[in-house]
Amino acid sequence: MVNSVHEAGARPAQWSSRFAFIMAAVGSAVGLGNIWKFPYITGENGGGAFVLVYLACIAVIGLPLMMAEVMLGRRGGRSPIGTMERVAASEGRSQGWVGVGIMATLAAFLILSFYSVIAGWTMPYIVSAASGEFGGISADDTGALFEGLLASPGELLLWHSVFMGLTVLVSAGGVRHGLERAVTKLMPALFVLLLILVGYAMTTGHFGEAAAFLFRPDFSALTAEAVLVALGHAFFTLSLASGAMMAYGAYLKKEVSIARTSVVVAIMDTGVALLAGLAIFPVVFANGLEPGAGPGLIFVTLPVAFGQMPGGSFFATLFFVLLLFAAWSSSISMLESLVSYLNEKGVSRVKAAIGGGLVAWLVGITTVLSLNEWSGFTPLDMFARFEGKTLFDLYDYLTANIMMPLGALFTACFVGWKMKPAHSAAELGGWHRLWYPVIRYLSPIALLIVFYFNLK
Ligand code: PHE
Repeated sequence: MVNSVHEAGARPAQWSSRFAFIMAAVGSAVGLGNIWKFPYITGENGGGAFVLVYLACIAVIGLPLMMAEVMLGRRGGRSPIGTMERVAASEGRSQGWVGVGIMATLAAFLILSFYSVIAGWTMPYIVSAASGEFGGISADDTGALFEGLLASPGELLLWHSVFMGLTVLVSAGGVRHGLERAVTKLMPALFVLLLILVGYAMTTGHFGEAAAFLFRPDFSALTAEAVLVALGHAFFTLSLASGAMMAYGAYLKKEVSIARTSVVVAIMDTGVALLAGLAIFPVVFANGLEPGAGPGLIFVTLPVAFGQMPGGSFFATLFFVLLLFAAWSSSISMLESLVSYLNEKGVSRVKAAIGGGLVAWLVGITTVLSLNEWSGFTPLDMFARFEGKTLFDLYDYLTANIMMPLGALFTACFVGWKMKPAHSAAELGGWHRLWYPVIRYLSPIALLIVFYFNLK
């Protein structure tokens, strides 16, 4: 039982190739986190120093953890909850470790509820772009357009419902055919389009300023809170501590190298985030906009850039369509933890996807309302840390800054201290010697330090 812990015939569907897994994992990783969230949190946290901390978090904690999760997933061959159950049992460890799988599934579920609302924003933008509304538009006008959208619960609810429906649709049909086929085409297209946008950004005359903002660290702008945000985002953007990579790892063939594949996924994910920054900040500076504008950043700035480009309506439409697809291939992976678990318990995929999607949709309504009617409802004001945070802000904070780092810590402790090294080595091959000390010592210590500075 050194190589595997599952019985014959119990293995679920598999990706058809290493390429398919990479595209699915990249599809999960690349999403709103890269194109929407990364630029705006970088803007809010002062630029360069934040980016550097973020890159360090990806390399030292994110990547080793991704390898750990894919490894656990492939070894357990089940849903994240089922996988933790099995692997803990086969290692002779307490079933308490199943908590890691439960928390991951919960985090993914909570993320899905608000992710769907934001992904929904792309759809009215597709409509506006396609109808040529962005032609020559000013930053003031795009700002008004965006605020108008957020102020309208009905419109937000409509697009949130459509997006959740799309997610359920693919999830119900099984990941392999629909998703595998879609991501292998869409991810490369997104990459090319981002490069075109960076090319445009270079012509704004503010590219140098943007590059300096992103890459010249000013450590005086860095706070302990910013380090936590960078760490949380490293998990969020790589889809870690949410079961997604564990669930996808369960469908990975034995002969594929987990380490090399994870490196490719992490590099592509980071590349897309940096490219998004290089596409967006030149436009921000060229139009005298505020880099710390928050969640509206790309929805206000990019239409201005498109509005001035030749063929802008076309590219804008394409961009928001691709952003929608990037979000879609991520949201499916969020639902996978729960759907695969329910499926194991005998619920059909269709029922599991519809049921899970429905509850996430209901919870998502509280995010819709946080943006308008309930924008003054900040229930945890009595704690300084949560002051002024709406429900939506709280979901985001709770998942990215608390649940994910905690889940990561427990996962690192499990594979670094509770699992027999021979077992992880059997999955990771030659990379194990490098990976093991990192996940055993470096990752948990780094995580504890960040926690310490944020809790004291
Ligand atoms: N990685 C995705 C993004 O950056 C978000 C995600 C989080 C996806 C958790 C799956 C699980 O948009």
